[in-house]
Amino acid sequence: MAKTDFYPLTVSDIRKETNDCVSVAFEIPTDAQEHFDFIPGQYLTFKHTHESEELRRSYSICSAPHEGELRVAIKKVEGGIFSTFANEKLAAGDVLETMPPMGNFITEIDAANDKNYVAFAAGSGITPVISIIKTVLEEEPKSSFTLIYGNKEFQSIVFREEIEALKNKHLNRLQVVHVLSRERLESEINCGRIDAKKCDALCSTLLSIDTIDKAFICGPEAMIHAVKDYLMDKGMDKSNVKFELFTSSAPLSKKTTVKAQDIDDSDLCDVTVKVDDRTFDLKLAYEGMTILDAALSKGADLPYACKGGVCCTCKCKIVEGEVEMEVNYALEDEEVADGYVLSCQAHPKSKKVVVDFDVS
Ligand code: FES
Repeated sequence: MAKTDFYPLTVSDIRKETNDCVSVAFEIPTDAQEHFDFIPGQYLTFKHTHESEELRRSYSICSAPHEGELRVAIKKVEGGIFSTFANEKLAAGDVLETMPPMGNFITEIDAANDKNYVAFAAGSGITPVISIIKTVLEEEPKSSFTLIYGNKEFQSIVFREEIEALKNKHLNRLQVVHVLSRERLESEINCGRIDAKKCDALCSTLLSIDTIDKAFICGPEAMIHAVKDYLMDKGMDKSNVKFELFTSSAPLSKKTTVKAQDIDDSDLCDVTVKVDDRTFDLKLAYEGMTILDAALSKGADLPYACKGGVCCTCKCKIVEGEVEMEVNYALEDEEVADGYVLSCQAHPKSKKVVVDFDVS
């Protein structure tokens, strides 16, 4: 199976998690099993055609590997064509074109670990987090987890019952703090939003930063920045603070507004794109189309999903030249240092650029 390949997976079950969120499980044929093994925290990308337009969307896996099931959660977002389709029309027996699991929001699970993990999740940002929590509780018997989980109200808490059951099963190893923004609970700590002030309040009562080995943050950008900056200010090492952006709308590209006809030929760079042992040669401006869009327009079959720098489906390696990314919410610092970029955010910075999608 090539990196860009989608595999037709049949939906085996759909469960309504809240009023506007379903979880969807898939049958994995034996010959595809090896491609769909996953690490907790990863996501799947789906391809779907709506009114002759191809849509690609990524959703995090909410099951854990030991459960023997591949399941994602899909929250309906306002105006979201695919998420509305999944919540209202998708049924067991339907087939979805699916790319194998990807993503960096992962950690090394080891039965010998004796760690203290904390996760800050907001709304559907719980999806990859619950997969990680279930795996840690199952596979690292000496580790413990604290979940700080923000929602608007009690009814909108995704996986509420599952989290309750996990808490009851692992009384001494899982601590859960719900934070609700539109419902008043008795304790002040459970009201409001997850921000720096809330982190401060939590750290003076329930959490001790010195004892946290690893933190996971998943939700909207403002929350991620607030929590990440707080934890790092208090001394946590950047490498132990993992985050995944969950947003209902992809950030807009700043440079794609430059039209091809505005560009002088002398400003064009030579860009070579290698994928699945094929090569595409492009002429590209320093500003304007991204490398991904330019190569797609030339007929290259490249992996991508969000086109907003949020997932890392479009990751490739720069083997020659230099590029500049508009935003990067997905790649780790070490990956960038090793020459990896998000092609959906990449513009050439040197006269000649060669990128390779086959190196992972
Ligand atoms: S397609 Fe998601 S980061 Fe590029």
